[in-house]
Amino acid sequence: MATTPFGWAVVGPGRIANRFGEAVQRLPGMDLVAVQGRDAMRARAYADRWSPGQDVGIHQDMDGLLNDKRVHGVYIATPHAFHAQAARACLAAGKPVLCEKPLTVNETLAKELIGLSRKHRVFLMEALWTRFLPIYTVVGQWLESGAIGRIRSLQSNFSFSVPFDPCNRCFDAAQAGGAVLDIGIYPLSITQWCLQQANGTRPILENIHATGVLAATGVDQRFTASLEFSDDVVSQVMCGFDGPGENSLRVFGDTGVITVAPRFWEATRATLQSKDGEVISEERAFAINGFEGQILEAIDCIARGEIESQVVSHVDTLQVVEWMDAVRNRLGVVYPFE
Ligand SMILES: NC(=O)c1ccc[n+]([C@@H]2O[C@H](COP(=O)([O-])OP(=O)(O)OC[C@H]3O[C@@H](n4cnc5c(N)ncnc54)[C@H](OP(=O)(O)O)[C@@H]3O)[C@@H](O)[C@H]2O)c1
Repeated sequence: MATTPFGWAVVGPGRIANRFGEAVQRLPGMDLVAVQGRDAMRARAYADRWSPGQDVGIHQDMDGLLNDKRVHGVYIATPHAFHAQAARACLAAGKPVLCEKPLTVNETLAKELIGLSRKHRVFLMEALWTRFLPIYTVVGQWLESGAIGRIRSLQSNFSFSVPFDPCNRCFDAAQAGGAVLDIGIYPLSITQWCLQQANGTRPILENIHATGVLAATGVDQRFTASLEFSDDVVSQVMCGFDGPGENSLRVFGDTGVITVAPRFWEATRATLQSKDGEVISEERAFAINGFEGQILEAIDCIARGEIESQVVSHVDTLQVVEWMDAVRNRLGVVYPFE
């Protein structure tokens, strides 16, 4: 299905959907054509902001959106507890899905959605935008070329302060709050990606150790995890809502070190320290706001009739959600709807 302009629908016009809206507005060959939100005024305000003066369908339920013929793909940006229900409806209706991270709150639901994508032959991708940032092309080349030798370990963290509020998405168990699903997915996913780039194969996890601090709502406000892979590779991860972090990514090889600058999940800079001590720094700016790469990838895959991206494949998503389940299991975090 090569359709120009490509018509995007947004489900859940909240904070992060604005970044998507900005990218769609500025990218050629695509339009925002529909918005689904529980509140028509909020959905209208979103449409007016990112597609002013255009005929954007405003829907309070999924049926209206799914019956809209102008919709060629759906971006889902509701809180994660509600991703599966929206994605399920889209896939059954034949509408391609780009869904915010994490695709689902657990592996069981991820398997169900991937099964639906395969059954109906409809595109499904978890919106792990970090993998599409230009600086990661450079990092991928360093890893593939063996610029730091064999990877021994990785360290990454993602921490910032969120004042405790039981209704906040980050702390609310009913919305699948907690650091593992919200921010832990970035270090876990980048660990998987780095090892795949360096070794050409998906990493084989042998053991996970995890500890954490739970908020009064029972979700993890902070966790640390150590993932042990085959060939004695270890990845250390620390994430939390209870204070700032250094927020970089470091990949240690047996002959060098790669550092992706703080806020590694949205970085534009990285350095390579090689065997002889030489340090190379690279900078790659975003073309728009960093969301453009994943949006263009989704449209390219859909145009080619593919049901998954090779950059964030279904198996990639399944492996990382399996790790997140394992970490939550060690922390004792179970959601009321599980
Ligand atoms: N890629 C990234 O960098 C990034 C960054 C932040 C968040 N995210 C992901 O994006 C998703 C949304 O995060 P956000 O920070 O944008 O959240 P948010 O500001 O709360 O927005 C979510 C929107 O979903 C809608 N919604 C539908 N059903 C809902 C329900 N039952 N409860 C609450 N809201 C509901 C709400 O819009 P209506 O009330 O109008 O329906 C709300 O505005 C999360 O899964 C998160 O992990 C990704």
